[in-house]
Amino acid sequence: MRICIDCDDAAVRLKKIIFDHLKGKNIDITDLNYSEGRENALYPEIGYNLAKKIQSGEYDRGICICGTGLGMAMIVNKVEGVYAGTCHDVFSAQRLVKSNNAQVITMGERVIGPELAKTVIDAWLESEFAGGGSAPKVAQMHELEKESFHGR
Ligand code: RB5
Repeated sequence: MRICIDCDDAAVRLKKIIFDHLKGKNIDITDLNYSEGRENALYPEIGYNLAKKIQSGEYDRGICICGTGLGMAMIVNKVEGVYAGTCHDVFSAQRLVKSNNAQVITMGERVIGPELAKTVIDAWLESEFAGGGSAPKVAQMHELEKESFHGR
């Protein structure tokens, strides 16, 4: 599984902690570092850049961190076929994949401490889409998304 990570100026420390944590577990993770050379980059363009790389298939999953995780989730969800949720607890992080089949997790450095963040990310990475009763719900979300993006 290829994973990418990025953050805005509010989450540089947490991004490094999570990046190092996953590297230490030999996980294939790339820091997109969109802000390098773009000192005034804001979360919408950073999240959009990450989401486009998920959409293209370059990466399977993404981790996007800002102050709250909220703005990153909003922009990632504007990219067709890419789904994100903000998770600061293990149960939500598991359900994000098992029930919602989302590729991107977002979190906020101003919300969560580093140890819990690492535990949440581990739980998210260990999770897979369960299908079953969740499958028609996810399929309906995709259909409604098509209507929203392209009309009927
Ligand atoms: C700071 O720019 C803050 O707005 C951002 O990091 C994020 O929390 C937005 O949702």
